[in-house]
Amino acid sequence: MPAAQQAPHVTKGPPQAAGAVARALRSALAKPLLWLLALLPLASLVWGAAANTLGANPAETLIRSTGDWTLRLVCITLAITPLRHITGWHALARFRRLLGLFTFFYGVLHFLCYAWLDMGLDLGATLRDIPKRPFILVGTAALLLMVPLATTSFNRAIQALGAQRWQALHRAVYATAMLGLLHFFWMRSAKNNFAEVAVYAAVLALLLGWRAWRWWRRHAA
Ligand code: HEM
Repeated sequence: MPAAQQAPHVTKGPPQAAGAVARALRSALAKPLLWLLALLPLASLVWGAAANTLGANPAETLIRSTGDWTLRLVCITLAITPLRHITGWHALARFRRLLGLFTFFYGVLHFLCYAWLDMGLDLGATLRDIPKRPFILVGTAALLLMVPLATTSFNRAIQALGAQRWQALHRAVYATAMLGLLHFFWMRSAKNNFAEVAVYAAVLALLLGWRAWRWWRRHAA
């Protein structure tokens, strides 16, 4: 039937689905669900450790999985703004702070797994090891950069700093992402294994490239 003859109540599928997603994103259940989803990797590692199913080298699995989740969460956090602009689902902004804090949480867990399982919680040995291994030094820089971001992610800090200064400070997340990628690349280069690194590099190139393109368009206009 030609579109002009369709009954007025017949609406197209995709816009209806998009509306449902937008409503779901605004719902009161969305944040608790995100909490659950973000805690699933930790729950699966704790479960694996208790059930002894983390493989032949559980310490390595714990350190690597928490590192993987830190990098994944950086990418997911950075994907919020482009997704908002492309889809028009502005309610996505509600989740950015929580995702950023979970990124930091997994980064701290990753560091603690290393300090505990690789370094035996020996603070002196840990501090000596960091500058000795460049890939660890780069990872430490990435984590330290997240500290001011996590500690100023609350409304009172935003008010105290002012929106512009707060935004400028929070651009450090781009450096964290790049350093996290370099850390991963450096670690894998010792094994000549770049397949996963290439995937993260492509994702980050897209996410940061989109921002660079928008910045260029704003300033070229
Ligand atoms: C103080 C900070 C950090 C330390 C000490 C550290 C240390 C380590 C260590 C020891 C490994 C395992 C190396 C191996 O098994 O040979 C590792 C792997 C990894 N780290 Fe970190 N890291 C830090 C921060 C970060 C941060 C901030 C990110 C992400 C943004 C990150 C992402 C990763 C990734 C993706 C891996 C590889 C996981 C895999 O092979 O699947 N690390 N890190």
